[in-house]
Amino acid sequence: MGLLENIAVVGQAALDAFDQVNEAQELEKIRVEYLGAKGRLTELSRAVGSLPPAERPQAGQAANQALKAAKQAYQTAQTKLGATKTQGVALDVTLPGRRHQLGREHLISRTMTEICGIFERLGFTVVEGPEVETDYYNFEALNFPADHPSRDMQESLFVGDKLLLRTHTSPVQIRTMEKQKPPVWIVAPGKTYRRDDDITHSPMFHQVEGLVVDKGISMADLKGVLSAFATAFFSPDTAIRLRPSFFPFTEPSAEVDIACVLCGGKGCRLCKGSGWLELLGSGMVDPALYNFVGYDPREVSGFAFGLGVDRAAMLKYGLANIRHLYESDLRFLEQF
Ligand code: DAH
Repeated sequence: MGLLENIAVVGQAALDAFDQVNEAQELEKIRVEYLGAKGRLTELSRAVGSLPPAERPQAGQAANQALKAAKQAYQTAQTKLGATKTQGVALDVTLPGRRHQLGREHLISRTMTEICGIFERLGFTVVEGPEVETDYYNFEALNFPADHPSRDMQESLFVGDKLLLRTHTSPVQIRTMEKQKPPVWIVAPGKTYRRDDDITHSPMFHQVEGLVVDKGISMADLKGVLSAFATAFFSPDTAIRLRPSFFPFTEPSAEVDIACVLCGGKGCRLCKGSGWLELLGSGMVDPALYNFVGYDPREVSGFAFGLGVDRAAMLKYGLANIRHLYESDLRFLEQF
């Protein structure tokens, strides 16, 4: 059989095959067989080049025609099968639409943003510090002397020699004062870690630290700022009280309580009859800290506070167990 006849026979075979096919996978096989890079029609049209020059034009024309017809037959088959598929399986326009699942910010992130927002409106700037901290910033420069019993109150998680997961956000106070001169008005949100685990304590929890160092700052400023915070965060009539306390880095120190969110101060089970709930630690910055950072205690004074974000969220939303915040149970998280 000469090339011309061959083209005619194979070309017809291709047309028949495309005409009869009724399955997409089969169609692809036929396309490869005839029109693929090594397909039968492709090879034949390539063979035209090796004919004697006189025979080439006629054979070339026949090959082009056969290729063109086969490609058209292929497209027709494709449309036919595609249309059937759309009607039958791939697209059922009568089905209801699929809803996208929308995520949301975790309650802790939201509470942290809300707390920082309140302080930002009071003129504070948000800064951050590292979660793996040196003994120097976590304790030493905050006036916890080595071997002092006050270190025992912070059940620490050490990761190396004099290197630990920070037990509080207070080290950011030192890092900030090292970097900038007064006036300082900052809040520092972040994760904190302690060897602690019960229904109100988790080994990883969150704090927002506050630090103000400026000219003529007194305890009245501390109380005013924290009272403004409590009314903005809880409710407009939330009262606070200051109770004497101790922290190595503040003198005097005060524990700040809010009027019980449940009974409003009358006394109930939540506040154990006292009418008050402990909210945060605070105090006037101990001048000993200024020596570590090169501030002049005759020039400036300040106050600081450390607020538990998980605790604040638990009080605000009445959560009984801190673990709810960390179990990733959507039934719980989607309520907020
Ligand atoms: N760092 C303390 C803690 O985690 C809380 C605290 C108390 C922070 C008094 C302060 C402060 O800035 O002035 O227990």
